[in-house]
Amino acid sequence: MGFTMGLNLLLLIAMVATNILSLYHLSSTLQSTKPQPLQPVPDHLLHQLNTIRATINHLTRHQPNPTTTTHRTSPPDLLLYSRISPIASSCHNHPDLLNTYMNYTPFSLCPHDTDLAETLILHGCHPLPRRRCFSKTPPKPSNSLPLNPFPTSLPDSNVIWSKYNCKTFSCIVHNYPKMGFDMSLEQTSFTVYRSELDLPIPQLLQIASHANSVLRLGVDIGGGTGTFAATMKLHNVTIVTTTMNLNAPYNEAVALRGLVPLHVPLQQRLPVFDGVVDLVRCGHAVNRWIPVMMMEFLLFDVDRVLRGGGYLWLDHFFSKGTDLDKVFTPLIGKLGYKKVKWATADKTDSKNGDVYLTALLQKPVPK
Ligand SMILES: *[C@@H]1O[C@H](CO)[C@@H](O)[C@H](O)[C@H]1NC(C)=O
Repeated sequence: MGFTMGLNLLLLIAMVATNILSLYHLSSTLQSTKPQPLQPVPDHLLHQLNTIRATINHLTRHQPNPTTTTHRTSPPDLLLYSRISPIASSCHNHPDLLNTYMNYTPFSLCPHDTDLAETLILHGCHPLPRRRCFSKTPPKPSNSLPLNPFPTSLPDSNVIWSKYNCKTFSCIVHNYPKMGFDMSLEQTSFTVYRSELDLPIPQLLQIASHANSVLRLGVDIGGGTGTFAATMKLHNVTIVTTTMNLNAPYNEAVALRGLVPLHVPLQQRLPVFDGVVDLVRCGHAVNRWIPVMMMEFLLFDVDRVLRGGGYLWLDHFFSKGTDLDKVFTPLIGKLGYKKVKWATADKTDSKNGDVYLTALLQKPVPK
């Protein structure tokens, strides 16, 4: 009881305080008859507001919730971490997973739970809290790492295989030939023109060079084993690849090819600054399965990181034919990009009447 009353009182104080703050704003704008630069809020008011916010957050987080009272208490390192760094709000939607993940002995070996990290990230708990333990690494990694991004084979000894059905790369290649691990197949996947939906890299480079738009840096969203980055590396273009370890060691494969794997999910804000990259490619992973609203945020985040004159390449985006016309084409149109290439075709392996779109779009240069 006392707790709830205290909280209510605090909320009341907070409401009054925020109203004082907004009044302060209002009065300072009313006073100024001529347009003046906005007056900064005095530090002590900001400080007060922040303290109130922090207290409320703290209390609401520790308020005994009838549905979760059966929970064991949070692991000490989770409490410690949450005091020094914010935790993504989606993490709180999975308290059991999060508690298990953070329940470890500091300064010793981490529990063997790499799946848990992946699961939490895919549920939107990203960035994951840091941990103070030693994560397991392969016991006898190979020193002879390939310099070539298309090696004949990738060293098996550099992967912890326990969570996968396959225990070698050749097993993956044999059982799942199209997952991107067959380097001989990968060699040509971005250089051959099979249909209008393809945009071979030599052609992409030619388009950019004709437009006087140099390609040096890029991001490949959902780039699997990093074959786009590998092919671009041969043209001295640096591409970082976002990829998840869904049923196979994709991140390790990218790294073993000497490329940069970013372990971030599709819903994550791209970890690069505004206007710094020349090219963003969205592969197969970006498709109609992503909710439209999330897709809109994704596209505008791509716009944020692209420089003026940079390119967005939607590579084999698939959706229902009617949705492409009614939903996705208008959505893509919101960016106001120039259509350099726009090719659609039926997705032959689809039972739902899906269509493919491959589009190369150029971000306008601000005038
Ligand atoms: C890439 O850079 C290297 C070293 O500067 C150079 O020798 C090579 O010709 C370049 N390759 C391409 C395709 O531009």
